[in-house]
Amino acid sequence: MNDQNKQDQAKQTIKIAAMVLLPLVLVVVGFVVYTIFPTASNQGYMPEQPIPFSHKLHAGQNKIACMYCHSDVEKSKHANVPAVNVCMNCHSVVKTDSPHIQKIKKAFDTGQPIEWVQIHELPDHARFPHKRHVAAGVSCQTCHGPIEEMDRVYQYSPLTMGWCLECHRGNSAPKEVLARTYPGVKDPHGPVAPQNCTVCHY
Ligand code: HEC
Ligand code: HEC
Ligand code: HEC
Ligand code: HEC
Ligand code: HEC
Repeated sequence: MNDQNKQDQAKQTIKIAAMVLLPLVLVVVGFVVYTIFPTASNQGYMPEQPIPFSHKLHAGQNKIACMYCHSDVEKSKHANVPAVNVCMNCHSVVKTDSPHIQKIKKAFDTGQPIEWVQIHELPDHARFPHKRHVAAGVSCQTCHGPIEEMDRVYQYSPLTMGWCLECHRGNSAPKEVLARTYPGVKDPHGPVAPQNCTVCHY
């Protein structure tokens, strides 16, 4: 009777230990896997903006060129979001009765920038030069998707290391980029950009 009790107690202890430990082990393993493999992504991130600026209306319907507003894309590492004076080129006369436009005018008059919520952001250790990609003939839409159809911008691509490398290796590179990299070749395939760590990492 006593032995039976002890055995039951031992079984019970093992059961409880397993119930507590198993999830703990899973959490630890999960955390290690999560931190070792660079797979975290903000794909789909679509924050609300302080002014409901529509790319569909401006870049789509009104066909304003991307670089009219994002003028640094060709020149620098970073693409810029335009300052209010660019908006005022049109909105000093266009739709001035709109409360959103009045907000833009107020920002312009007071010199207070509009606090756009940043959508795309790589970690600090990664290096991404916009101008090199634009110069190599990669279109904005290849990476940012159909921006000219978006009322509100969202992160279209995963922007993970694997995503970068798939294109650099040539696997997901657009046809035009392959054709530029291998001029004269009939059915071009192969790498289109370097893949060594120091190219992309500080
Ligand atoms: C009239 C000016 C204007 C034009 C034209 C324009 N944009 Fe923008 N863009 C903005 C503003 C303002 C923002 C910040 C607010 C927002 O995210 O909607 C922005 C945001 C973005 C972002 C997200 C930035 C971030 O925070 O990560 C991308 C990507 C982008 N634009 C790409 C494009 C592309 C591609 C085109 C051409 C098809 C284009 N834009 C045309 C003004 C413009
Ligand atoms: C090249 C001209 C041009 C530029 C530059 C421009 N817009 Fe516009 N915007 C327009 C036109 C055209 C409309 C549509 C007006 C209408 O509906 O009659 C519009 C409409 C809008 C609206 C909708 C207003 C409403 O209440 O219906 C907002 C908000 C807006 N623009 C914000 C911006 C911001 C922010 C910038 C600067 C980043 C900007 N625009 C730059 C031409 C421009
Ligand atoms: C090869 C992919 C690729 C192409 C092509 C590309 N972008 Fe980007 N874009 C990115 C990445 C990655 C980021 C995030 C960069 C960072 O955080 O340093 C970004 C960020 C941005 C931003 C936010 C500001 C910034 O620099 O962080 C804007 C605006 C933008 N892109 C506009 C454009 C426009 C306009 C074009 C076309 C002229 C374009 N992009 C072409 C990948 C691309
Ligand atoms: C084509 C560009 C590119 C190349 C080449 C590249 N990386 Fe990355 N790497 C990135 C980007 C972008 C990120 C950030 C996005 C992410 O975490 O997936 C990243 C993330 C990482 C991380 C994850 C860090 C974290 O925050 O979790 C490690 C580790 C890493 N890279 C190591 C390497 C090593 C080692 C090499 C060489 C074998 C290499 N990378 C080559 C673009 C690149
Ligand atoms: C759709 C294809 C594509 C994607 C996606 C892409 N790249 Fe590139 N990348 C290119 C091409 C093409 C070049 C130009 C190579 C050249 O100039 O010869 C390039 C060049 C570069 C260079 C300059 C290389 C040098 O020689 O100095 C860096 C750095 C770079 N990419 C980083 C990245 C990072 C980081 C990402 C992901 C966030 C990324 N790229 C995503 C196609 C791509």
